Amino acid sequence: MLGKLSSTIKQDIEEKLEKAMDSEYVDFAEPLKEYMSRGGKRIRPLLTILSAKAHNKDVEQYTNVAIAIEMFHNFTLIHDDIEDDSMYRRGKPTLHITYGIPLAINLGDALYTIVWKHLLNAGLSVDELNAIVKTFEEVVVGQDIELRAIHEETFDLDYEEYYTLAGNKTGSLIALCLALPLVGKENFDKLYVAVRQLGIAFQIKDDLLNITGDFEKYKKKIGDDITEGKRTLLVLYALKNLNEDKAKELKGILLSHTKDEELIKRAISLIKESGAVEFAQSKAEELVSEYLPVVDEIIPPGEAKDEIMKIIKMFIKREA
Ligand code: IPE
Ligand code: IPE
Ligand code: MG
Ligand code: MG
Repeated sequence: MLGKLSSTIKQDIEEKLEKAMDSEYVDFAEPLKEYMSRGGKRIRPLLTILSAKAHNKDVEQYTNVAIAIEMFHNFTLIHDDIEDDSMYRRGKPTLHITYGIPLAINLGDALYTIVWKHLLNAGLSVDELNAIVKTFEEVVVGQDIELRAIHEETFDLDYEEYYTLAGNKTGSLIALCLALPLVGKENFDKLYVAVRQLGIAFQIKDDLLNITGDFEKYKKKIGDDITEGKRTLLVLYALKNLNEDKAKELKGILLSHTKDEELIKRAISLIKESGAVEFAQSKAEELVSEYLPVVDEIIPPGEAKDEIMKIIKMFIKREA
C-alpha cells in the first residue's frame, strides 16, 4: 500500500498525464489516451518525484520529467506487446490486438515524440538529457538481447547474460528515476548501479507472476511468457536442472510459441518441478538485501526516502 505522500503524488501524476495527452494528435490519438488512462502502478514517475523531493530539487520541473518517463515506459510497452505478441495490457486488449500492428506501431511512435516534447520543455541540463538518452539506449539493448535469443532459437544464455538483459530492459529506466537528481555528482553511478540491480529483482518478480500470478491482479495473460518463448531466469534455471528428457520437452514447447493451454500448463509445471520458482524468488530477495542498503545510504532521510524504500520493497512482494 502506498503512503499518503505517494498517493497524493500519484493523483497529481494521473491528472498531469491526462492533461498532457489531451492536446496531442487530437485527430487520431484517442486510443493512446485510453491506453494511458488505464493506469498502471506508476512506480517510475512516483520514484522520480520522490527522489527529486528527497534531493531538494525543483519538484515542478521533475514532474515534467516524471511524466515523460512514464510516457516513455508506455511507449516501450506498446511496442513490446507487438514484439511479444501479447494480448492483454493492464487488463485490457493490447493496442495491436484492437487496432492492428501498423496503427499500434504508429501510436507508439506518436507517444515517443510526445516524450521528447516534454523532455525538451523540462529545462534539463545537457548532462541530464545525456543520462536520459543513455538509459533509453540501454532499454533498446536489453530488448535486443532478449528478442535476438528468441529469433535465433537459442537458450544459450547464462545467468549473467540474463542479468544484463533484465538490467537493461527494465532496471535502467527505474535506476534513472532515482538517480537523475544526482547527475554530475559523485553518487550518481553508485545509485544508478544499485537501483538497476533492484530493477532486475522487479523483472524476476514479473516473470514469476507470469507463471504463478492471478490475472485479476497481474492484468496480463498468465503463461504468456511460455507462448513468447521468453528466456527468463526461471526458464534458464529449469533447463539446467531438469533431466535431459524434460529439458528437451520444455525447450520444444518454448520453441513452438504455442497458445495451447494444456501445453502452457505443462511447461509451467516443468518449470515449477525444477525448483526454478524458489531459485528465482531467492535471487530476487538476495538482490534486494544487497542493494536496498545502498539506496538507504545515498538518499537523504525524510518522508520521501521512506516512501522510496517502501516502493522498492514492494518490487518483490507485489501481485500486480
Ligand atoms: C511492466 O512494467 C514491464 C516490466 C518492466 C516488467 P510495470 O509492472 O511497471 O507495468 P505498469 O506500468 O504497472 O503497468
Ligand atoms: C518489458 O519487458 C520491458 C520493456 C517493455 C522495455 P517484458 O516483455 O518482460 O514485460 P511484460 O511482461 O510484457 O510487461
Ligand atoms: Mg512483454
Ligand atoms: Mg518483452
